Amino acid sequence: MWCTQGVKKITSRPSTLRNVPSAGARHSFESYLLINKVEGIKPGLYRYLAIDHKLLEVNTEPAIALKVTKACLDQVFVNNSAVTFIWASVIYRMKYRYGERGYRYIHLDAGHVCQNLYLAAQSIDCGVCAIAAFDDDEINNLLGLDGEEQFVVYIGTVGKRI
Ligand SMILES: Cc1cc2nc3c(=O)[nH]c(=O)nc-3n(C[C@H](O)[C@H](O)[C@H](O)COP(=O)(O)O)c2cc1C
Repeated sequence: MWCTQGVKKITSRPSTLRNVPSAGARHSFESYLLINKVEGIKPGLYRYLAIDHKLLEVNTEPAIALKVTKACLDQVFVNNSAVTFIWASVIYRMKYRYGERGYRYIHLDAGHVCQNLYLAAQSIDCGVCAIAAFDDDEINNLLGLDGEEQFVVYIGTVGKRI
């Protein structure tokens, strides 16, 4: 989480400066984690509270991993992953400054975030698979997002290399 969305500084504007760049430092993403196999953490869906650098439990029902996997068009490596990162945009954060062009910027931002996940994972001998094939309504519903003001943009699985 630190490498993908960690907050290094809060400026006087105020805006956050993080370990990834973002157009206008808008940082429109909220990160959700599907945690399956991480020592010391109960499996389930969590949200990352970037400023506090903490996880908030969202849903720890046992079926949640399979539901997220189904929303990812049954790509089974989601269910088998140690952790799956899910990045959802709160589009207003970008839109209020850049209007429609902000829609372009969130996708560029997502690329940086996911690339940092690839790099961070590599350094601990883990692998990542980016995912853009998912059912928008299904994944947004699971996360309680309305699909208009907030919606999932990108997903990345992480697991140990074998
Ligand atoms: C934008 C994007 C979307 C992707 N979506 C998926 C996906 O939904 N499912 C999947 O298995 N791989 C997905 N991938 C992974 C690519 O298939 C993979 O990066 C490519 O085959 C090259 O393999 P490598 O990353 O191991 O070099 C995606 C990659 C990117 C960059």
